[in-house]
Amino acid sequence: MRKVLITGHHGMLGSELSLACEDQGDEVFGFDLPDMDITKRDRVLHAIGEADPEFIFHCAAFTNVDRCETEIETAMRVNAIGTQNVALAAESLGVPLLYISTDYIFDGTKNGPYDEWDTANPQSIYGKSKYAGECFVRQLCQWHYIVRISWLIGKNGPNFIETILKLARERDELKVVSDQHGSPTFVSDLVPELIRVSESGAFGTYHITNQGYTTWYEFAKKAIELKGISTNVLPCSTEEFPRPAPRPRNSRLSPMLYAQAIGNDMPTWEKGLKDYLKS
Ligand SMILES: NC(=O)c1ccc[n+]([C@@H]2O[C@H](COP(=O)([O-])OP(=O)(O)OC[C@H]3O[C@@H](n4cnc5c(N)ncnc54)[C@H](OP(=O)(O)O)[C@@H]3O)[C@@H](O)[C@H]2O)c1
Repeated sequence: MRKVLITGHHGMLGSELSLACEDQGDEVFGFDLPDMDITKRDRVLHAIGEADPEFIFHCAAFTNVDRCETEIETAMRVNAIGTQNVALAAESLGVPLLYISTDYIFDGTKNGPYDEWDTANPQSIYGKSKYAGECFVRQLCQWHYIVRISWLIGKNGPNFIETILKLARERDELKVVSDQHGSPTFVSDLVPELIRVSESGAFGTYHITNQGYTTWYEFAKKAIELKGISTNVLPCSTEEFPRPAPRPRNSRLSPMLYAQAIGNDMPTWEKGLKDYLKS
């Protein structure tokens, strides 16, 4: 049993993580808007000091990737400076911090999956702000974990699978991008791993996603097929669906260091999808 503090505990990841920690007997302090704003340094330092946790999971973020392109100051204030504040609080208490980062810190041009030690080169404002958060964590926290995830799917938030299934029920035909490659990360598979990593003492930067790689097109097709919906799913290119924020074409994250240091216990994305659709 530990006293843990979870930022972003109302969010898709933070909500399931909070429940899992409570289920194993941890005392959980949740920090989220509107009561706790991670951009307010004095308040964050004071409140985290009062809570006096033994471990901090930092999941709070401004996660709307497209809005980040126009709301640049907010993206930086929340994802970079907010993370700096949480990192300063963790270090002042001498407690370890686990920061959730993203595949968007890479530019997507590598010919193969990204290893944990590959050079970051974020192309979007969201990616730049999350990478700035990583830098603060590395500079400020002696005891830290940085866990990069991608294509997050959980029951407590809007996500790709829910959007696709809704559209598939409404339309006879659906076009889905087939030239972006990555790994889905199911929250219910990720949460036990985050807890295991947080208890490992093997501090460092890790990639944790479900095993195997796919494209948005294949991922959507599989979900529609498993649900028995008869829509015709067609592949299309990124150019056919222009979005404000650039997406990495290659978001594949290799879990090399995670597998070596801690052991990769994540199920395949196909198993994750089946379990998610059943739940
Ligand atoms: N979703 C993905 O596909 C994905 C992929 C890779 C990495 N990640 C990372 O995974 C983590 C969890 O993502 P998620 O999808 O669970 O995000 P989410 O559902 O958007 O949850 C984030 C939470 O943080 C809160 N928050 C925003 N600004 C805040 C502030 N200034 N102070 C305190 N709390 C604030 C949000 O509140 P409001 O809802 O009120 O804004 C929300 O409750 C994030 O660090 C994200 O960058 C996500």
